[in-house]
Amino acid sequence: MLESGSSVQRKAPVVEAEGLRKRYADREVICGVDLQVQPGECFGLLGPNGAGKTTLLRMMLGLTEPSAGSLRVLGHPIPAEARRARERIGVVPQLDNLDPDFTVQENLVTYASYFGLKQAAVSSRIRELLAFARLDGRSDAAISALSGGMKRRLSLARALINDPELVVLDEPSTGLDPQARQHIWQRLFGLLDSGRTLILTTHYMEEAERLCDRLAIVDAGLIVACDTPRALVSRHIEPHVFELRGSDAGRWQQRGAGLAGRAELVGDTLLLYAHDPDPLHHSLGTEPGLRYWHRPASLEDVFLKLTGRDLRD
Ligand SMILES: Nc1ncnc2c1ncn2[C@@H]1O[C@H](COP(=O)(O)OP(=O)(O)O)[C@@H](O)[C@H]1O
Ligand SMILES: [Mg+2]
Repeated sequence: MLESGSSVQRKAPVVEAEGLRKRYADREVICGVDLQVQPGECFGLLGPNGAGKTTLLRMMLGLTEPSAGSLRVLGHPIPAEARRARERIGVVPQLDNLDPDFTVQENLVTYASYFGLKQAAVSSRIRELLAFARLDGRSDAAISALSGGMKRRLSLARALINDPELVVLDEPSTGLDPQARQHIWQRLFGLLDSGRTLILTTHYMEEAERLCDRLAIVDAGLIVACDTPRALVSRHIEPHVFELRGSDAGRWQQRGAGLAGRAELVGDTLLLYAHDPDPLHHSLGTEPGLRYWHRPASLEDVFLKLTGRDLRD
């Protein structure tokens, strides 16, 4: 048996960024980002609004020029060879930009023409993609007749027209209902099974946890943590969380912190983070009328710990 890493040739990363920065006027919105995305993985950028997720994706696509740093995508230096890289990338933008004057089929045909695909190959490719996106039977529908979920699936089908190795998705399921979201996730799992690399942005913890092999938590233009979802939770947060609700919760802050290790008061909810749940169970159980909920720590706890609880709009 081969020793791991000895004669097995490692594949080059799909994205390699070093010291990436972006400045607009007097404001730096990407403040020194290093990251690597490996072939075949689903890599997530998770961050609050305005964190810089879209800017990072746009830089990878050569649509926003970095102010400093180096960037390679699929081996191409960006932005110098962005056009060549983009021939091998599929893009699902944050807002669907399907042409409302064209039908489903016409949108795909027009997009295929940008890649110079041959007419004969295009028809069978489009049939395949409509089936993949569960839009067969809708090829003559107007864009306005599609639901939000269908439009997203059509955007995804369109992004696959050039059979890309890398698919980049900016908030693929924002605004979709749970059924439509599940549908998109199944399509994305299919893409991963076929060996493609995915990079997506999201602010949904569940999406990040379920889909992504690795996640970068982005805040104010910086990557504040990067790892597998499981490692982020085990490394950054205590495993047990107790939530105490009600007007009495605040009174428990000091005592809870003593028993738990860490306490945080958010509105009238007291959050207690503990490595050992037993002392808290014993004390809380003897307190008449106190309502509490014991749950395992989640990615959301990590996210809020690292990015804070202030509103971002
Ligand atoms: N073209 C631009 N000119 C000036 N500021 C911009 C521009 N594009 C983005 N920004 C700013 O950069 C920051 C990051 O934006 P963005 O990458 O869209 O964040 P996210 O996608 O994480 O919500 C925001 O504060 C945004 O206002
Ligand atoms: Mg964005």
